[in-house]
Amino acid sequence: MASAHVLDHPLLQHKVSMIRDKNTGTKEFRELVKEIAMLMVYEVTRDMPLKEVEVETPITMARTKVIAGKMVGIVPILRAGLGMVEGVLNLIPGAKVGHIGLYRDPDTFEPVEYYCKLPVDAQERELIVLDPMLATGGSASDAITLIKKRGCSNIKLVNIIASPEGIETVRKAHPDVDVYVAAVDEGLNDHAYIVPGLGDAGDRLFGTK
Ligand code: PRP
Ligand code: URA
Repeated sequence: MASAHVLDHPLLQHKVSMIRDKNTGTKEFRELVKEIAMLMVYEVTRDMPLKEVEVETPITMARTKVIAGKMVGIVPILRAGLGMVEGVLNLIPGAKVGHIGLYRDPDTFEPVEYYCKLPVDAQERELIVLDPMLATGGSASDAITLIKKRGCSNIKLVNIIASPEGIETVRKAHPDVDVYVAAVDEGLNDHAYIVPGLGDAGDRLFGTK
């Protein structure tokens, strides 16, 4: 069974507190989400395999290490996952980017798919799915199902704020997928929003409300 990793570095906790604040405006919110994504992916990639190489320094030859494993693909769930892309690319500039478009039906809270475009070689890549919010877990589970249907199997999910039920939903549907979060909140309200959460991540990122 895959596990949920709670990344609780002090810088992450500090920045997550700032994005929760309703007085944090769009510009700052966007910058913080980017920084949080960068800090999270630093931890998420901790298990990347290395291989030895020889490098000539100005002094002498050195036996040293570089990343050896699969290439990385990042897959933001539209819209709010887009806010995390730049932060990840800052650390993994060679990553290819796929996109999955899902929105939650406002009445049923069920995810509705409207777009999916992955890198052509996605099956050979380690895929990191990005979405700031894991609420019911429906969107993330469906996104991972879509990715698996296209033949991909090496998948990690990165969310900034999760509900306990969202983590459980993804773990049940996709026990092979490791989930990384920066905070696990109390639960969901009647509108399936995370409590205390941060409100609507997409609207706060793009200033649409
Ligand atoms: C939000 C969020 C997740 C989803 C989480 O997106 O970014 O994708 O809800 O909820 P769930 O775990 O209950 O599925 P939303 O559907 O509001 O779309 P948006 O990003 O386009 O605003
Ligand atoms: N989507 C959000 O943006 N926030 C929530 O709390 C739940 C779903």
